[in-house]
Order: sequence, then structure tokens, then C-alpha cells
Amino acid sequence: MRGAQKTFSEPGKPAIEVLSGVDLDVAEHEFVCLLGPSGCGKSTLLNMCAGFESIDGGTIAIDGEPVMGPDPRRVFVFQEYAIFPWMSVWDNIAFGLQGRSDAQRHEIARHYIELVGLEGFERAYPRELSGGMKQRVGVARALAVNPDILYMDEPFGALDSLTRLNLRSQLIQIWRREKKTILFVTHDIDEATQLGQRVVVMSARPARIKTIVDLSGLAYPRDIDSAEYIQARDRLFEEMGVSTRV
Ligand SMILES: Nc1ncnc2c1ncn2[C@@H]1O[C@H](COP(=O)(O)OP(=O)(O)OP(=O)(O)O)[C@@H](O)[C@H]1O
Ligand SMILES: [Mg+2]
Repeated sequence: MRGAQKTFSEPGKPAIEVLSGVDLDVAEHEFVCLLGPSGCGKSTLLNMCAGFESIDGGTIAIDGEPVMGPDPRRVFVFQEYAIFPWMSVWDNIAFGLQGRSDAQRHEIARHYIELVGLEGFERAYPRELSGGMKQRVGVARALAVNPDILYMDEPFGALDSLTRLNLRSQLIQIWRREKKTILFVTHDIDEATQLGQRVVVMSARPARIKTIVDLSGLAYPRDIDSAEYIQARDRLFEEMGVSTRV
């Protein structure tokens, strides 16, 4: 992405400049976190990458091709559980596989149900599941269509801290196994330190890239008690202008 720029303007209201000239390159199979204060423009940037939102200046290209709109090779996992309440776990996960044979759908759905640990809940409906389980259905459904890129917008934001920790470690395992490129938006410093190979720290609105912190030296699974982890996390606190003392 080069010089990505976005301004929202509505008649009769002052225009809101949300992004001013964002440059970023993401490598294939990389896990990149976008970290920034609430309202800075993270979701807007992710929506532009995914083709849900237009770009007002600059370019966003994937494999050299400008993003023109949503593409099934790239899927989005939202903060709110974007699964169908009237479909079972199984049908939700198999939803994107309509072009496949029954045998293939079965095999793929089975694989992702196991991957996210929902065996035994295939016939359950979303209302019968906990928040964390619903979010796992969302992740499995996104993975089942075998995308190259996963865009994740605070997917674990609505969950309690233990469930979040658990799902982050599952996500890391899945990412390492399935070799996806992941762009993950968060405003949670710990989440970014646990997940990202690189963390892109954004400024308040209009968002620019303040700095990019390279955490590729921190091996997975990350030990949140290790000195290196704490050092990396403190660096992100500093870059975000937040004190580590409460
Ligand atoms: N469709 C829209 N029309 C007008 N303004 C918008 C629109 N979408 C977002 N904005 C504005 O753009 C700014 C950035 O919003 P965005 O949702 O990208 O922030 P964010 O960094 O994702 O915040 P959060 O961490 O709270 O999710 C906000 O001031 C918001 O009011
Ligand atoms: Mg947002």
C-alpha cells in the first residue's frame, strides 16, 4: 500500500480525514498487527484492504493488482460474530463451499471443525454456544474457503480475557499450520505482542504509521513471562504513549 488516503465527507458536515498517506508492505504468510488508539482509522484501513471501502488517494495492491472490491480469496473475520443464527455449526462452516461436491464439503468442514475444537457441536445452533465458540465458528468458516489472506478486525474483542488468550494461541497454531497471511487489527497492546511478527503502530486520527515494531525475533508460542516478551510489550506501551503503571 502506498500513500493510502481516506476522507469521509457528508454534505453539511466537516470532512473527516481518517488516513493520511499510509505506506505498508506485507509479505506472504506474514502475521501483521495494526495497533492504534480507538477511532484512529484501523477498521477503515482494513476495510479498504478488503475492498469494502473505497480509497481516496494512493494505492492498495495485492500481488501487484489494485484492490477493486471484495474477493473470495481474501476473507474478513469481524468483531461481532458474523455467523448465521439459523444455521447449525456445520452448515455455517460449510456455507462458503457450495461449488464443491458433497464429499469434498464434508471433508473440509470436518477438518476445520476439528482444527477449532468444535467436535461434538456440529448440530448445535449459535444460540447454544458460548461467545468463544461462536467466534471459533467464524474463524473456521473463514478458513474453510481456503483464503490467501485473513483480515481480522478485533475478532476476540468481545470475549473474556481467558477465552481471548486461548483463542489467540489457537490462531497462532492455525496460522503456522495453514500458512495464511493475516492482517489483525487490535487496540490491545498485549494482544499485539502475543500475535504479531510485526506490529504497525498507528497515530491518532488522521492515522499515519507512527512506527513498525519488529517482533519476529520472539519465537512462538510466546512466553508472556519471559524478559524478551516484557521488553517488547513495554516498547509498544511506550510507542502508544501509555504508562505501564496503573
Ligand atoms: N462510513 C463512515 N462515514 C463517516 N465517518 C466514518 C465512517 N466510518 C468511519 N468513520 C469515522 O472514521 C474514524 C475512524 O473510524 P474507524 O472505525 O476506522 O476507527 P478504529 O480505529 O477502527 O476505531 P476502534 O478501535 O474504535 O474500532 C472515526 O472518527 C469514525 O467516526
Ligand atoms: Mg475498529
